[in-house]
Amino acid sequence: MKIVVIGGTGLIGTKLVGKLSQRGHEVVPAAPRTGVNTVTGEGLAKALSGADIVIDVSNSPSFEDRAVLSFFETSSLNLLSDEADAKVRHHIALSVVGADRLPENGYFRAKMAQENLIRASKIPYTIVRATQFFEFVGGIVDGSSDGQIVRLSPALFQPVASDDVATVLADVAIGAPFNGVIELAGPEKFSLDEFARRYLVAMEDHRKVVADVHARYFGAELDDRSLTPGSGPRLGAMHFEDWLTRLCE
Ligand SMILES: NC(=O)c1ccc[n+]([C@@H]2O[C@H](COP(=O)([O-])OP(=O)(O)OC[C@H]3O[C@@H](n4cnc5c(N)ncnc54)[C@H](OP(=O)(O)O)[C@@H]3O)[C@@H](O)[C@H]2O)c1
Repeated sequence: MKIVVIGGTGLIGTKLVGKLSQRGHEVVPAAPRTGVNTVTGEGLAKALSGADIVIDVSNSPSFEDRAVLSFFETSSLNLLSDEADAKVRHHIALSVVGADRLPENGYFRAKMAQENLIRASKIPYTIVRATQFFEFVGGIVDGSSDGQIVRLSPALFQPVASDDVATVLADVAIGAPFNGVIELAGPEKFSLDEFARRYLVAMEDHRKVVADVHARYFGAELDDRSLTPGSGPRLGAMHFEDWLTRLCE
């Protein structure tokens, strides 16, 4: 089976390409670095020729509101059009839990635009919405820091290891299209400020985390439902403390 991984050189993409190759599939990592650009269309039709499955784990180089929207709209339109020509049987995309619940967040709006283009296309699909990756917690802390103070919402948070995300995507790739959304989260949930505190302790970083119900998460106030999955999500196996221990080894 030929599987094309759009964004196959990124954090998730690299792990996914490795896992699918280990399972014996013909896997093509497609990204600007390998000569495939979904925004300009360069190299795309050739990469998709003979492909059975496409998994889109690409990401925008810029997270500025208009740039990220333009990236996911243009990329998805080009990709879905070329996939239709290549008669791809299953399109899988990685989105974010809560993408439909935080319209104040420009990145989430862009992910919804991507999802809606997939739903409107005729290609059988599965959308996997994951919670934030453990690898992203440091970025959240930095984005919420003002000197030595990190102000974060105490809303519930349930991040997941990127390795578990890649495993679930590999499983989804060999299954039938779900034509809907599958949610994926980490094995435990507690408050966002507490995740940040544990991260900083492990990093021996002395910044102080302050819980503030009005602290905005990339433009949006959070409640306990904003970033956590609904009922029956798939759960990753890796716990945050174990991931931190490995990170610091
Ligand atoms: N971070 C989180 O917590 C989180 C949570 C849930 C879902 N997600 C989703 O997970 C996905 C993957 O994230 P990631 O952190 O693995 O991304 P990443 O490490 O930043 O990798 C981005 C990938 O996209 C590729 N790319 C960039 N521009 C492209 C273009 N024009 N055409 C084709 N490929 C292009 C990059 O290729 P080059 O190497 O050539 O630049 C790279 O392979 C994203 O869609 C994101 O929305 C993220």
